Amino acid sequence: MEDLTPARDSLEPIEIASRDEIAALQLERMKWSLRHAYDNVPFYKASFDKAGVHPDDLNSLEDLAKFPFTVKGDLRDNYPFGMFAVPRDRIKRIHASSGTTGQPTVVGYTERDLDTWATVVARSLRASGLRPGDILHNAYGYGLFTGGLGIHLGADKLGLTTVPISGGMTQRQVRLIEDFGATGITVTPSYALSIIDEYKEQGRDPRQSPLKVGIFGAEPWTNAMRREIEQAFDMHAVDIYGLSEVMGPGVANECVETKDGLHIWEDHFYPEIIDPETGAVLPDGELGELVFTSLTKQAFPIIRYRTRDLTRLMPGTARSMRRMEKVTGRSDDMIILRGVNVFPTQIEEQLMTVPALAPHFQLQLDRLDHKDVMTVLVEPWPHTAGSGPEAGRDLAAKIKQVVGVSVKVSVTDPGGVARSQGKAVRIVDNRPKG
Ligand code: DLL
Repeated sequence: MEDLTPARDSLEPIEIASRDEIAALQLERMKWSLRHAYDNVPFYKASFDKAGVHPDDLNSLEDLAKFPFTVKGDLRDNYPFGMFAVPRDRIKRIHASSGTTGQPTVVGYTERDLDTWATVVARSLRASGLRPGDILHNAYGYGLFTGGLGIHLGADKLGLTTVPISGGMTQRQVRLIEDFGATGITVTPSYALSIIDEYKEQGRDPRQSPLKVGIFGAEPWTNAMRREIEQAFDMHAVDIYGLSEVMGPGVANECVETKDGLHIWEDHFYPEIIDPETGAVLPDGELGELVFTSLTKQAFPIIRYRTRDLTRLMPGTARSMRRMEKVTGRSDDMIILRGVNVFPTQIEEQLMTVPALAPHFQLQLDRLDHKDVMTVLVEPWPHTAGSGPEAGRDLAAKIKQVVGVSVKVSVTDPGGVARSQGKAVRIVDNRPKG
């Protein structure tokens, strides 16, 4: 794989500033952001007043812990525009995340917010190894989802040639990567697997593709999956993280030269890790729930937003800003199976160690005789179909040994596991509700 390390002088100065400089900027911006939210969003005024805190109470970054959390339900309660801090006619863009139930979560951006977003996405794409003139095949969905249009903004800012293909029509994805000579691809890791399958379907070798780097996010994926994708394409695979409520893609990104977790663009998004049970702030290095406070957003300031994503904070390496470990899962996706906590990523890790099985999987939960049962749906590669049953037993044994739960493994025919064109649906819960 080619060395794609960006030139030091192509970085923004703040990316390699001293910790003191970063902290000073954060404090100044945090004061502004709390004040802006309090003065302009009735929800924040009410929530701060109820907790007995005022923006003037913030004298250090640690003081943020005195302020109340914001949760997804608060955004739903203020649907659609109640969380906006600027008059409606200053909103230049709306995005929304569909959510699995009920109301969508609506977010908005001013002109300057869109410019900030472009800046952090451009920074992310550069950290991934892309540079002006590269051709980017952007297969994140365009529309209300922030993936497609968010990446697009940053690609424009960095000076890339963008192919706004969006998700779906997998045959055409392969054809255009090849015909246009894409050097970068932005896509969910699960849809990348479908693109790899399609290469094989067309009798093409993905290792011969023009791609040098893939920038994968919007869903959890493991280092084992990274190796699988890097091998298949003979390219770098880096992780991009973000969420609509905080901005969209580009809140944090891995650096291609280190691939050791995602640098959080801390000059715009202030991270904390909390104990999800007590809400107490945990020291860097400890695993907990990631919480974000926006430092510069105008239209939709967000204060101490509980992401439900589980990770830990680590010191900077390739950049001065702190890193977050690859997200192992969302607390919402944690399955408690007969007392054992299981995340889909733990199943993914084990699946990757069974060579006869393809990397596609789905978890199905049922209740039989008052007991919860998990079935792992997997499939063999077309050329290993004969060894499916044995591979299935092998996987069940590994899951039992490493994850500590007994599961049923069901090996379908090749192509039998549902495919996604965006975020994969990992869990199908058939258990009775309530
Ligand atoms: O998924 C934004 C995005 C688009 C990120 C494209 C990266 C690339 P939402 O639809 O609001 O926004 O979903 C946000 O997706 O809270 C995580 O649970 C999950 N997620 C996003 N990136 C990652 C990642 C976009 N790299 C939710 N690893 C977040 C693990 C991720 N989970």
